Amino acid sequence: MEFKNVILEKNGNIAIVTINRPNALNALNSETLKELDIVVDTLANDDEILAVILTGAGKAFVAGADITEMKDLNAVQGRKFGILGNKVFRKLETLEKPVIAAVNGFALGGGCEISMACDIRIASKKAKFGQPESGLGITPGFGGTQRLSRLVGMGMAKQLIYTAEMINADEALRIGLVNKVVEPEKLMDEAKEMAKKIANNAPIAVKLCKSAINKGMQCDIDTAIAYESEAFGECFATEDQKEGMTAFVEKRDKCFKNR
Ligand code: CAA
Repeated sequence: MEFKNVILEKNGNIAIVTINRPNALNALNSETLKELDIVVDTLANDDEILAVILTGAGKAFVAGADITEMKDLNAVQGRKFGILGNKVFRKLETLEKPVIAAVNGFALGGGCEISMACDIRIASKKAKFGQPESGLGITPGFGGTQRLSRLVGMGMAKQLIYTAEMINADEALRIGLVNKVVEPEKLMDEAKEMAKKIANNAPIAVKLCKSAINKGMQCDIDTAIAYESEAFGECFATEDQKEGMTAFVEKRDKCFKNR
């Protein structure tokens, strides 16, 4: 499928989504958000895709929501724009496939926020993270006040959001915002290797892990554990559980069928 601001490529079982507005450092305008919405639906409906990598074209990952578009919005329009971004990011976060953000450069505002809607973040040494919104007279609007606190804790989230300061990849690693930091030229290989590792496991199990973790993080421990028991039980209704365990017992390679 062809888009103006997003490239969707398939590489075997892995999809690579590249946000492609390099002249605006991949800033997210409504048009790009709407394209991303379609991309996520496309990924959801493609049974061949078992893992997704999200990255940015050029020197930035995503330098935020599009300031040019936001500049003259009134309160009603601003709210609408925020709701659009949040809807798309939540759809990405709840996509039943793992998503790795390969953060190649600036991940600011909406860029930091979209990386946090992904399951895993791998950062290039050149990446920079931040929530600069308060310096523009706004709050983060695509989930930053919520996902950043959940990822790095309330104290650090408040520091980053109130000060609007930018941090480098090593600091992002130290505070738990990213999983790994790699040399810029190794970024995509590293992301692909991790995506392949994930795609080699039982897809239904991986999908259920994602939803158990995501749902469980939002509720009390008893409800959360109940989600896990439900997911665990569901696996035993799959062919892949029989295959995985039989292959182990028979000391042979497994062959998962996503069933
Ligand atoms: N929106 C629109 N355009 C943007 C943009 C953004 N968020 N970020 C960069 N651009 C544009 C610049 O205006 C510039 O365009 P022109 O060439 O037409 O002038 C082009 O991208 C290149 O940018 P710079 O010349 O500024 O590049 P630089 O290397 O000197 O600086 C930067 C890089 C520090 C990332 C700087 O571009 C910057 O500070 N960008 C804005 C970052 C930001 O504040 N993001 C948060 C946006 S608000 C938000 O995201 C709200 C939300 O939560 C939903």
